[in-house]
Amino acid sequence: MRLFVAAELPDGLVDALAETSAALRATVRGRYVGPDLFHVTLAFLGEVPGSRVAEVAEAVREACGRHEAFVTSLGSLGTFGRASSAVLWQGFDRGREAWDALARDVRGELCAAGFWLDDKGFLPHVTIMHRADVAHGVLPMPCVDRGVVDSVTLFSSDLSGDRPRYEALERVSLGGVVD
Ligand code: 2AM
Repeated sequence: MRLFVAAELPDGLVDALAETSAALRATVRGRYVGPDLFHVTLAFLGEVPGSRVAEVAEAVREACGRHEAFVTSLGSLGTFGRASSAVLWQGFDRGREAWDALARDVRGELCAAGFWLDDKGFLPHVTIMHRADVAHGVLPMPCVDRGVVDSVTLFSSDLSGDRPRYEALERVSLGGVVD
């Protein structure tokens, strides 16, 4: 199974991201991610045998048990890759330390359980568009909003269709008081 661990976002942030996406559509060509698929990847595992999914879930529960729900706010737009075919994303402003600590812990538990993760640095972001041509023109100001991240989800992904299909295998709540 192809697995990744990600945070889903509260409706207000999804709406703001969808507004940013709509503004981008007027100026940038590329392959847009549907708002129903927006997420923040904390750890990408890739192919994992079905027999080990329970171990992944246990590692995620273990890490999340040490973290509380937190407030975050959307930040600037950014890109990965070539300007003519980039991944275009929106990042976060408030809550960066909480994002970093959560991702570090989830990744640490997964590594301790013997799963392989890439060692690319973690940058919390929501991918809005793939193969974006941002070589020309000016990007619009993104919509920003703030909201609470209160859970982490283990997803399987199926890329066989014309758009990815993500299935939530397990949702783990973050505890504690917010704000
Ligand atoms: P993203 O977080 O930048 O959007 C599911 O494929 C998710 O895992 C995507 O959101 C994707 O990128 C993220 N991801 C991280 N590393 C990946 C990799 N090596 N291959 C595919 N997806 C990866």
